[in-house]
Amino acid sequence: MPEPYYRDENVTLYHGDCLEVTEWLKADVLVTDPPYGRDWKQGELKGHFTANRTGIANDATSVVRDAALTLWGERQAVVFGDLMLAPPVGTKHVLIYRKPSNAGLRGAVGGYRRDAEAVYLIGPGHGSGIGGESSVLTTGAVMMGGALGLGGRTGPPPEKPLDVLERLIAPRPGIIADPFAGSGSTLVAARNLGRKAIGVELEERYCELIARRLDQMCLDFGGGA
Ligand SMILES: C[S@@+](CC[C@H](N)C(=O)[O-])C[C@H]1O[C@@H](n2cnc3c(N)ncnc32)[C@H](O)[C@@H]1O
Repeated sequence: MPEPYYRDENVTLYHGDCLEVTEWLKADVLVTDPPYGRDWKQGELKGHFTANRTGIANDATSVVRDAALTLWGERQAVVFGDLMLAPPVGTKHVLIYRKPSNAGLRGAVGGYRRDAEAVYLIGPGHGSGIGGESSVLTTGAVMMGGALGLGGRTGPPPEKPLDVLERLIAPRPGIIADPFAGSGSTLVAARNLGRKAIGVELEERYCELIARRLDQMCLDFGGGA
């Protein structure tokens, strides 16, 4: 069994490739924001970079996302994704995550910002029936440039806001898995709800960030993109 990079009462984090470090498969619900599959680069505007050129590992295609989803199998999953890509196999419903009002200014097309993402509800267990909440998810978070102020133009991939993640996690009982943990927002949101979570992250610098974030959680006010 691999040694965790970080562990507390609720959260266990592994450093490594989630296709090889498979402890996350022991969880009950997958809530994750995988590489986008469109070669996202931090700080890019029309081919120019304003700061450190920092991309997301395995972001050129959706191959790694799909391999992880295949490992997960036909179980309950909530997966963020780019609206330009086809939904993963087994998608039952697509929600829209509307980012904070100052998001997506860079890279606007036709006068429209890139300020929305898909959230795929995959597999069983999401419930059905009449009524329900709007399928457009909004956040009360202010975009402050990433966890602990390290995001923005030079830091990790834009994190998802805690209030949106908490709404997605709360009605889905069991242990939460995030095999593409990034800056750790899913793990933090799960812990905020008193839930257990298992994360994996490929990049050690992000594992370090997550560990620090979880250690300093009382100072985390939940900013996100
Ligand atoms: C879109 S980001 C996740 C951002 C996250 N939602 C947050 O709030 O910070 C995707 C993450 O997956 C990681 N990643 C890419 N391939 C991976 C793999 N094979 N195993 C584990 N992590 C991987 C990247 O390093 C990146 O941090």
